[in-house]
Amino acid sequence: MPLPFMRLRARSVRGVLCALWLLALCATAQAGPGQQAVASAHPLATAAGEAIFAAGGNAFDVAVAVTAALGVTEPQGSGLGGGGFFLLHEAEPGRSVMLDARETAPGAAHRDLYLDADGEVIPGLSLDGALAAAIPGMPAALVHLAGRYGRLTLDANLAPAIRLAEAGFPANAGFQQMARFRLEALRTGADAADIFLRDGEVPEAGELIRQPDLAATLRRLAEQGIDGFYAGETAERLVAGVQAAGGIWTLEDLAGYKLVERSPLVLEHDGARIVTAPPPSSGGIAIGQILNILAVQDNDLGDDEILRVHLLVEAMRRAYRDRALYLGDPDHVNIPVTRLLSREHAAELRQGIDLDRATPSAELSLMPESSAGKPPRVESPQTSHFSVLDAEGNRVAATITLNYPFGSGFVPPGTGVLLNNEMDDFAARPGVPNAYGLIGFEANAIGPYRRPLSSMSPTFVETPERITVLGTPGGSRIITTVLHGILATLEGADAEEIVREGRFHHQYLPDHIEFESGALDTDVLLGLARRGHTLSPQVRPFGNMQVVLWERRQDRVEAASDPRGNGSAVVLPAQ
Ligand code: DON
Repeated sequence: MPLPFMRLRARSVRGVLCALWLLALCATAQAGPGQQAVASAHPLATAAGEAIFAAGGNAFDVAVAVTAALGVTEPQGSGLGGGGFFLLHEAEPGRSVMLDARETAPGAAHRDLYLDADGEVIPGLSLDGALAAAIPGMPAALVHLAGRYGRLTLDANLAPAIRLAEAGFPANAGFQQMARFRLEALRTGADAADIFLRDGEVPEAGELIRQPDLAATLRRLAEQGIDGFYAGETAERLVAGVQAAGGIWTLEDLAGYKLVERSPLVLEHDGARIVTAPPPSSGGIAIGQILNILAVQDNDLGDDEILRVHLLVEAMRRAYRDRALYLGDPDHVNIPVTRLLSREHAAELRQGIDLDRATPSAELSLMPESSAGKPPRVESPQTSHFSVLDAEGNRVAATITLNYPFGSGFVPPGTGVLLNNEMDDFAARPGVPNAYGLIGFEANAIGPYRRPLSSMSPTFVETPERITVLGTPGGSRIITTVLHGILATLEGADAEEIVREGRFHHQYLPDHIEFESGALDTDVLLGLARRGHTLSPQVRPFGNMQVVLWERRQDRVEAASDPRGNGSAVVLPAQ
């Protein structure tokens, strides 16, 4: 099955074309699409979004409702105890911004937090239980989104989630599969086991999961705003629960949490403007580097798909190597963003690519022995993404997470809040891979109040013809999955085609190409093997992409939810 993006001309269009683009953009500046759409990973969350649209909410109100509802109905993926990135576009005044609701390390965190006396990483300590949890950013994002950008009240936007938490949602296959995977962690604490298990076992399909404590916590948030979570009763219960279970949170850590509004990263490629996530996400920079390498490819590769996949894989390898070396929390480390995204750097990297031979990652001057060839420990598509567009053209791409399935598996007593294990996204020790096989060094070392480096990459792809709102979960594969989505939309694929497309991935280490069944033709696989690539077919699919697409010239809106997941997408007439 040839991949549509393989036909993509690898070229960058700047200067003249950029000016033409701006002219075209002005010419097409128009009222919004006149329709509205939402795509999310759970039908009940999509329905919550529909209800808020029906009540007169805008895309930002819908984002609050969908985030909160996903936290209730897909606790394996995201929740109040986690964080995320919300890429927003306000149609009026035409401004994009990213809400960085990434979790932060507690004040007492330090670089040796997960090491034993010999300096070895203690298995599981950054993954399971209270010590694995960073200070959540999600409640701050909900309050800010509703207050600064929404049209309805926070209370109105949280109402569907509160109802779902009280009434319960039926356990589905995704919930069961992940609860099985995290059974030991969920059994450890009484509250998590009571909420998510039945007599210590995975609930039957269809069994109702009720969350009255979470409903009460959400209600305090709805009534009191920020203080309803980061101070008072909720904060006291969270800190008491965490400390009693061996964690290091303090009330000051919670009170000090800061949501940050960041300028998105804006890339130009092939006549498109790609608006995506800046650090502390690694996604935008890595995507930009890969696109830049494609753009400096001087001679046309024609229809040679083997060469095109080879080039893309070699570009991925190099972008993930730079990720490991240079990326981290921009408020604590200096990231050479301009250099990493420069054409000179892309040209240098391209020069090191041999079109006839795979470059072993070991030859790229970074190969800590401890990480060589270790496979990632998890392949499950947790985390969540949703995409929204309203009739005026406001839009949201949000990727939200607890990190691992069911996060740390720990619920502080009496809160109903399942805590993240985002601390595992730091480099627990230089060069030692995390749960996704990713390595890191100084730039992503653990430190007080730091944000761990993320791969989450909510993205807008903007051309005069169409605007695509997209994103996906998938751990380290988020970046390459979003890249496939960007290339597909630039090829003109419709929303269904974008989410269906086969996916492949390389992340520098482990040094192999992971690919979904059917994503690469046999002759391409043979051609890659002949070049020295190690091929790693994956039984499980990658990601759970949610797309909303506005065909501006045709005044049409499409929405699609990845067939790999259980989500749903709707397009609705304007209210
Ligand atoms: O922020 C990150 O990059 C990770 N915590 C995301 C985790 C994820 O996507 C889980 N899905 N497999």
